[in-house]
Order: sequence, then structure tokens, then C-alpha cells
Amino acid sequence: MAVRSRGTKLLQTFLPRCLAPPPGRRHLSSPAWSSQLASLPPRDLYRLSVTDPDQFWGSAAAERLRWVEPFQRVRDCELSSGRISWFLGGKLNVSVNCLDVHVEKHPDRVALIWERDEPGTEVKVSYRQLLEMTCRLANTLKSHGIHKGDRVAIYMPVSPLAVAAMLACARIGAVHTVVFAGFSSEALAGRIQDAQCKAVVTCNQSVRGGRLIDLKATVDAAVKSCPSVQHVFVSQRTDNPTVMDRPRDVQLEEAMSPQSSICPPETLDSEDLLFLLYTSGSTGQPKGIVHTQAGYLLYTALTHQFVFDYREGDVFGCVADIGWITGHSYVVYGPLCNGATTVLFESTPVYPDPGRYWETVQRLGITQFYGAPTALRLLLKYDESWVKKYDRSSLRTLGSVGEPINHEAWHWFHSVVGEGRCPLVDTWWQTETGGICIAPHPADEGAPIIPAMAMRPFFGIQPVLMSEEGEPVQGGDVGGALCISQAWPGMARTIYRDHQRFVDAYFSAYPGYYFTGDGAYRSAEGYYQITGRMDDVINVSGHRLGTAEIEDALDEHPSVPETAVIGVPHHIKGEVPFAFVVLKEEQQEEPDAILTELRNLVSTKIAKYAVPQHFLVVKRLPKTRSGKIMRRILRKVATEMTDDLGDISTLDDPSVVKEIVHAYEQYRKQPHQRKEE
Ligand code: WTA
Repeated sequence: MAVRSRGTKLLQTFLPRCLAPPPGRRHLSSPAWSSQLASLPPRDLYRLSVTDPDQFWGSAAAERLRWVEPFQRVRDCELSSGRISWFLGGKLNVSVNCLDVHVEKHPDRVALIWERDEPGTEVKVSYRQLLEMTCRLANTLKSHGIHKGDRVAIYMPVSPLAVAAMLACARIGAVHTVVFAGFSSEALAGRIQDAQCKAVVTCNQSVRGGRLIDLKATVDAAVKSCPSVQHVFVSQRTDNPTVMDRPRDVQLEEAMSPQSSICPPETLDSEDLLFLLYTSGSTGQPKGIVHTQAGYLLYTALTHQFVFDYREGDVFGCVADIGWITGHSYVVYGPLCNGATTVLFESTPVYPDPGRYWETVQRLGITQFYGAPTALRLLLKYDESWVKKYDRSSLRTLGSVGEPINHEAWHWFHSVVGEGRCPLVDTWWQTETGGICIAPHPADEGAPIIPAMAMRPFFGIQPVLMSEEGEPVQGGDVGGALCISQAWPGMARTIYRDHQRFVDAYFSAYPGYYFTGDGAYRSAEGYYQITGRMDDVINVSGHRLGTAEIEDALDEHPSVPETAVIGVPHHIKGEVPFAFVVLKEEQQEEPDAILTELRNLVSTKIAKYAVPQHFLVVKRLPKTRSGKIMRRILRKVATEMTDDLGDISTLDDPSVVKEIVHAYEQYRKQPHQRKEE
């Protein structure tokens, strides 16, 4: 074994039990999830994970993952330079850990339940079938010239083939980059170009809420400007024909069927790339966040088990799309590494009616339901009978992710959906963190779960709150910039082809610490609550969006010299973009026509969900003498808090405030402008 046990009493007694694979259902009737670890001193276990990470993570990795060659060293990390390596020298294959190890023990266990858009037409895929599908797809990729290290874009909604495409890349050592199938062709092209993808995997159409969307047409438009793409693999989701441009386009199912269902796994280093996932930051250009093999897989598996109290036989229901990190970590990698049955939810919360989630829970016997507050806020407006008419007794743990959960949504989820008997875990994490970092978990044994609080750090996570002066804030009942002071196995390793940007974005604000970009509050008891982003990133329906990306799109309009976009609260979506737009003085077009063009620009350059809900035409923007836009003032105006504008003495011309307030008041008087609020 790679790790020499130092054998403290604590370790000998507790670690093997703690880190063993998920237990069976023997505690099913137990009301509290902590029963599984009831005899452990959880504080000691957490303390151990942060005081002796080598021992803790070394044991976990040796116990939980199947290695081709054992690792020689647990970690080599220096946060100030963004150098992060885990399980050095170890060799493994992620798809083997997610498939083969389970097929050996229980080939017929259901791996995936594909909850298709059409209710009642779910498809179950066993571990054996998923392994075969993955191998056929892997062999198809290989026979089209895709090899270790090549990048493959996946532009598909959730489906067994999409999961197989991810795992097929992992099997042959190719690097996947899943692009959310709601992104426009230009956004897709930008990601393909940055990653220099050799192939795209897509489907002819997607089906969502009864509507068909031509994904292949979007890919066709995107790859026109992507010379790196040699092949587009097209799966047939619907019976409708699609135009194929052969030999570039390959019908996926046809190409897979003659392939062997055996594909020898590539042996990969712990730190070889597993995937890229593009996410928004505070500049216009999305960042290709890099995750690697062993550390990511181990971290998602452990968090999946402990945060959700996952046990063998459970049906794990995370309704996120695979286009986001939540789908990667808690639809695919974490659950499959644990040998779980994981649900792929293709539909929407309101299709065909607002009971869809709960009808699915009843029909599939879902035990853990993990979703986004935005959907809960939408659903709680409907009558409770939409929930109550379905049997939800299978549910054991509820989870929320992606944005702050407000009290109303928390209580509705906990008491109406969970009948007050299921722990509800508010989980805080990010694309960059790989897995859940702060959430109630078994180490909280006996501690209450406080509504709408992410609560406690996971094993290995050391949160620190920083003051404005850049000093750690001590004690309780305090707030600050949320940082993490020690590396953990699931964290991102770099930004693809731009390590300096990685260092600048995450490790330079507070040297030696990972800066999350979020603010947080720590209660007197030491529990954490996330207060929201501190940078120019907003969160629309749980989707992360840089305001600079929207500004870049708007600024392309010839009549628009300047814009500023901020996020304003929205009762369902959490936040929506609000655009302040300056028009050229001499322009002839009607402002309304320009605004329509601006909406189209954002929709074609990024995605529909990024289109600002509000546009306010102003003569100029509030700027400091050095030319920086004072967004704080725009936020105050848009949230109608102009009584308290704070210090405006640094403005180049303070009279601009009056001008903007006046423009806003006029806008407010037009009822149709804010009707969607
Ligand atoms: C926000 C999603 C409050 C936060 C997994 C973070 C949250 C960003 C929570 C990451 C939560 C995520 N409470 N805010 N429980 N979870 N966030 O990369 O601002 O899509 O920085 O990852 O979402 O979004 P991302």
C-alpha cells in the first residue's frame, strides 16, 4: 500500500469505518442520518482531516479507489503559486472506478434511471449495460482518431449516452468539456476554440418540457468557426431527421453498434486531466476550469456519501443538468464511484404540471432529492396539493445547491416536501471546488440543522473569513470574504492554458489562501452562512454569469458605446441582470428597436437566460475620476435604495446620480417594463 499507517489509536479505530464504502440499508428507519457514524467522535475526525491531511486523505484514497499503481506521496500543494497535486505517482482509470468495480460485484444493479421528458417513460440502465455502452462509445471515439489528451466537447442534455460519452473519454484518457445545451452557438464555439476540441458529441434534437430544440443546428453553426473539430457525433434523441455533413458527421448509434463492448482502460496519472468545465468569472472570457483524476473522484465520492447519507440501494435524485458542475459531481462521478443508482432528469419542474418532481419521486422511489432553490421558489407558489398527492415516503435526505436558499423556500422544502422528517442540507460549493465544501454533515452529530445555513466545513476544508484589511477575522458573529486555507483533493488545478489567470483569480487577493469570490457570515456557534458574491458574478436561476460577459455582448451593438450590467434580486430566479445602456447621441434608430436588438445579441452570443430583464437608457454612467464605473450606485438605484448612496465624493461629476435616478423613476412608471418581477 502506498500509505504507511502511522496508526494512531484514533485512526485505527475510526478511519477504516468512516472511509469504508457506503453501508447497506440497515439504518433505513433511523430518523437521523448521523446513526451511521453514531459512535464516532466527529469533531475529532474533522480535526484529523485538517491537522493530518496526509493520513486522512491517504487512507481514504487507498481504501476507496482502485489503483493500477499506488501513489507515492499524498500531496504537494502550495496555494500561493496555485500548485496543487494529490496522490502523486498514482495510476488509475476513473471509468474503471465508476463501472468495472461495480460490474464485478453486481452487474445487474441499476446505474442510471433516465427520467425522460415524457412522464412514465423512464429507461433503466444497469452497470453492465453502462459499461458496454461506454466501451462501444470509447472504441468509436478511438476509431475516429481520438486519443489520450485530446479534448472532446459534449453538447447534450442528460441521457445515458451523454453519461457514457463522459465515461468513454475518461476510459481512453480524452478530456471532456460538457457545454450546457442551452448555450448559443457562439458560446459553444468559444469553448470549443479555447479547448481546441477534436470532436463534438451531440444529439439531433433535445426534448424539454414538451418542446423540441435543434441541437445539431446549433453545433453546425458553431463548428463553422472551429477548424480543430474533425468529427461531430450525432445521437438520435427524436425520430426527426437531421442534415448530416459526412464524413465529418457520424451517426453515433450506428457507429457504436459494430464496435466491441470491451475497451481496455487507459492507465492515467492521478494528475492527468479528467475534464474542463467553462465557468463565468469577472471578465468577459469564461474560464476553462481543470479537474484531474484521482482527487476529484475521491472527493465527489466521499461528499456524495456523507453529505447525503447515501447508502447502498438508494435511488439518488439530483435534478441538475450535466452541463454544470453539479451534474458532473452528483449525477455522474460521485454516485457512480459509490455504485449508486443515479437519476438523470431530462424534464422541467413544471412539465406537464407542477407535481412533476414529486410524481417522479413516487414512481422511481427516490431517496435523496437534490435541487436548486430557484425551482423551489417557483413550485411553492402552487397549491400544496401538487406535492401532497404523491407518496414521498421514500425520501430520506433533501439537498439544495447553487445559490442562497431563502427561508421561505427552505421551510417549504423541509416541511411540505419532506414532511419535516428529512434532513435538508444546504450545500455550498463551486465549479472550482469540485465538490461540496460547506454543508451540514455527519460530523454535526447531535447539532441542529439551522434553516438556510450551509453550516459546517466538510472533511479537509478550513474556511477562513478575511477582513477588508486582508486579515483573518476571528471568533463568531462575524462576516468577511470567504477563503479556504488548505488545499483539498477536489479543488481545481488550473485554468486551461492560463495558469497565471488561475493564480490571479483565486490566490492573489489573499496570498496563501484560496479566495472563493463569496462573502460569508460565521455565527457564534461557528456555523457558516453564505452571503453572496463579492465580485461581478451574478447567479440567475442557479446559473453563474459574469456581468462582464453580458456587457461585452451588448457593447458589440454599433449604437451602444457603453453599458454596465448589475444583478438585482428576483423572487424566483434569485437574481436577474439589469443593464444600464448609453446610446450614441447621433444615432437615428428608435430606442425600443435597439433594445430588441440588444436582447437578441445577448441571446445569440451567450444564452437566453443571460438576457437582461431590465434595460435603462441613461446619458452616461457614474464614474470615478479615474474612469471606473461605480456599480455600487447603480445597484442602489436599481434596488430603490437611493436614500443611502454612501460616499459619492469620488465621482467625477456627482450630478450624474440625479440624472440616473430620474431616468429610473421614468422607467418605473411604465408598468409593462417590470411586469415579470
Ligand atoms: C453560489 C455551483 C449560497 C456561490 C455548485 C458560488 C451558493 C457559486 C450555494 C458557484 C449555496 C453555490 N448558498 N450560494 N448553498 N451554492 N452558491 O460554480 O456564489 O455554478 O460561488 O457551482 O454559486 O456556482 P457554480
